[in-house]
Amino acid sequence: MSLPGEVRIVEVGPRDGLQNEATLVPTATKVALVERLAGAGLRTVEATSFVNPKAVPQMADATEVLSTIERRDGVTYPVLTPNMRGYDAAVAAGATSVSVFTAASESFAQRNIKASIAESIQRFAPIVEQAERDGVHVRGYVSTAWGCPFEGPIAPSAVHHVVDQLADLGIVDISIGDTIGVAVPGEMAAVMQPLLDHDADLELALHLHDTRGTALANAWAGLELGITAFDASVGGLGGCPFAPGATGNLATEDLVWMLHRHGIETGVDLDQLVEVARWITGELDQHVRGHVAGARIWPWAADARA
Ligand code: HMG
Ligand code: MG
Repeated sequence: MSLPGEVRIVEVGPRDGLQNEATLVPTATKVALVERLAGAGLRTVEATSFVNPKAVPQMADATEVLSTIERRDGVTYPVLTPNMRGYDAAVAAGATSVSVFTAASESFAQRNIKASIAESIQRFAPIVEQAERDGVHVRGYVSTAWGCPFEGPIAPSAVHHVVDQLADLGIVDISIGDTIGVAVPGEMAAVMQPLLDHDADLELALHLHDTRGTALANAWAGLELGITAFDASVGGLGGCPFAPGATGNLATEDLVWMLHRHGIETGVDLDQLVEVARWITGELDQHVRGHVAGARIWPWAADARA
């Protein structure tokens, strides 16, 4: 088995992690979270989302968050933008990387973005065109790739069809989401292998919610297939307000622990990241949902190679 020497982690805690929090988190805490994550070595920190504040009140301070964070060289701060309005606001606040998001199931697309999958793709076309003119990077998310809270299991062909449409728009950075955490490792290949075989230009990432405790195992299965980019959320925070029952993402510190123990580089300082996980979950009055941040003794140096 050949493993990659390096993995790209997209930290989604400040967006996916906080968007589902019922109590409004102060803007200063959000800004500090983004800055501390970048300080721990994460090179891509999804900072917020420019969506309807009535739909996701927690993200209503997107402009303030994005324009306040002190940016570090070499770090990008992508933001979610569902439509042109969100794109314009994001770029006005200094975004250099935006993420559009759709789904592999019609019911989830309707509830999440009030559009059919086809309508969502139509909305993305002008965003991609404008982003190209502005020199802004565009990522695409495909949610409910293994299961939908309203439709149940999703056929891999449905995912492939959406990925094809995003690729036709010129989006190559595509994150495939197990939004409600139903996938198991043996199901990674049916969705991911045809995509890997079909288009070598795609930069595929896995976005794995840990609702049933399989996210890290699924990430391992993805690694074995040759996936080298993973979304993860500090402290295992996360959930989508429009996906009933969806809980946190794969905890970034658990992923980093596993990768580093296999000699796979991430650029992250695990000790610092664990501090951030403990701090933010304390701020939210929660327990850390991941494992590594709760482990009180290190059997050996955190970053030691196995
Ligand atoms: P819509 O109702 O079709 O939009 O919503 P509309 O154009 O009819 O406008 C409705 C209202 O929204 C209007 O305001 C607009 O001004 C406002 P009102 O007149 O009622 O006062 N509006 C906006 N405001 C701010 N920013 C904008 C914006 N656009 C419209 N960009 C829309 C369509 C997509 C906007 C809405 O449904 C929405 O914002 N949905 C939020 C979806 C969301 O954030 N979901 C969570 C993130 S996705 C996720 O978590 C999954 C992921 O993690 C991957 C995975 O796990 O699988 C990425
Ligand atoms: Mg998510």
